[in-house]
Amino acid sequence: MSQNVMVTGAGKAVGLGFNLVLRYLEAGDNVVASIRKPCPELDELKKQYGDRLTVLTMDISSTESVQAAADELSGKLSHLDLLINNAVSVSPDCGKGFFEANLDYIARTVDITAVGAMRVIKAFYPLLKKSEGIALIMNISSEAGSISRCYRTNMIDYGMAKAALNMATMNLVNTFKDDRTINIFCVHPGWIRTDGRADNPAPLSSYEAAEILRELFEKKRGDFDGHRFITNLDEDYPF
Ligand SMILES: NC(=O)c1ccc[n+]([C@@H]2O[C@H](COP(=O)([O-])OP(=O)(O)OC[C@H]3O[C@@H](n4cnc5c(N)ncnc54)[C@H](OP(=O)(O)O)[C@@H]3O)[C@@H](O)[C@H]2O)c1
Repeated sequence: MSQNVMVTGAGKAVGLGFNLVLRYLEAGDNVVASIRKPCPELDELKKQYGDRLTVLTMDISSTESVQAAADELSGKLSHLDLLINNAVSVSPDCGKGFFEANLDYIARTVDITAVGAMRVIKAFYPLLKKSEGIALIMNISSEAGSISRCYRTNMIDYGMAKAALNMATMNLVNTFKDDRTINIFCVHPGWIRTDGRADNPAPLSSYEAAEILRELFEKKRGDFDGHRFITNLDEDYPF
């Protein structure tokens, strides 16, 4: 049976979000692609898939923008079965170490990547609650957000943002603990050529990674008791 899926950060054709949108459309589902600015490749998909694809504009750094998008969507769609929080932002100093990086950039990365996902969950929660099955929230995290496995001296803003997203996930696990109609995980999606470059050594294209995740998410929908931070290969990952 087809489901209603929403993916944030879907406006970059070589990125993971766009390819998740494509994979779910190919699987027969109805998809909401959330973007910040126009994406011609999504317009092309819209021509192909028509009403099965809804393109929604929102800036997840703004509660007002996210709420306006949720209000707009609730006029078009009865419910959501799956929300994938994929959008991310990193600062220009992401590659720098502690002594070189401008620390004032960090808060914005955390705000968009972690608080942004929470804004989306809060605003779209009423639509998720209307799912007839188990509504699933998948927060796209990263191994870089693991505190216990941290080995880097750079990517400070990104690592902090993903660790914050993982904490948000666990807080919501507790919030939803008595409700077996909504489930939530944070997921390391694998090492992916999300820049679309052939010389990127990452083993997976965004299109390949998206299908691995699509299959994994269906497997995890009813798993309420397992570890909450998992990899694309369904391994438990330490927080
Ligand atoms: N590549 C890897 O190996 C790898 C590994 C681990 C985890 N991940 C995770 O996988 C996910 C996808 O990676 P990616 O490289 O495909 O992501 P990306 O393209 O860098 O970001 C996804 C989208 O987020 C959007 N975004 C940024 N700020 C936003 C805002 N304020 N409001 C709404 N949308 C906003 C961007 O929109 P604009 O186009 O408008 O800027 C962009 O299209 C990310 O969560 C990333 O952290 C990737």
